[in-house]
Amino acid sequence: MKNDMREILITEEEIQEKVKLLGREISNEYDGKFPLFVGVLKGALPFMADLIKQVDIHVEIDFMDVSSYGKGTVSSGEVKIVKDLNTKVEGRDVVIVEDIIDSGLTLSYLIELFKYRKAKSVKVVTLLDKPEGRKVDLVPDRAGFIVPDEFVVGYGLDFAERYRNLPYVGVLKPEIYEGE
Ligand code: XMP
Ligand code: MG
Repeated sequence: MKNDMREILITEEEIQEKVKLLGREISNEYDGKFPLFVGVLKGALPFMADLIKQVDIHVEIDFMDVSSYGKGTVSSGEVKIVKDLNTKVEGRDVVIVEDIIDSGLTLSYLIELFKYRKAKSVKVVTLLDKPEGRKVDLVPDRAGFIVPDEFVVGYGLDFAERYRNLPYVGVLKPEIYEGE
């Protein structure tokens, strides 16, 4: 798979180091609490798995699967819940765990949803932030790395459901897309 990459943007070591740091920060922030980490499927799976191992307080985990209406790269902002939480959010300190924030539409929908369900607090931790893609005013509470406005894959992020299992984040060679 490495041959398919034009460039590696963030190495495995850099990711693991950052995840440790985020884990320590979150442990301090929620010390004495029992936050609910909500991973957004499928992209957040590797980040969620690594992050919870670096958090040394009790946490509960759950997952949501959402998809935006309208196919293609331009998202409409309407979000469909494909898989909802099994956990009640009312009164909980919710931490949304995301792979990447691009337009911010998915996340702003989820934040409003959890507020409507009476969460005590809602915060966002994302591994990657692509601020140039933003369509709504949304700043994550914690972000691992800022990435340029390019399509990135790896560590949860896919191209046509592939490359999610890469331990690093990179950009594909153009011929990989053209071959589709
Ligand atoms: P928003 O609503 O912030 O959506 O636009 C974020 C979701 O869009 C996907 N996304 C990407 N997936 N490489 C990917 O593989 C990218 O560069 C990329 N940018 C956005 C992703 O599913 C994310 O959760
Ligand atoms: Mg996602």
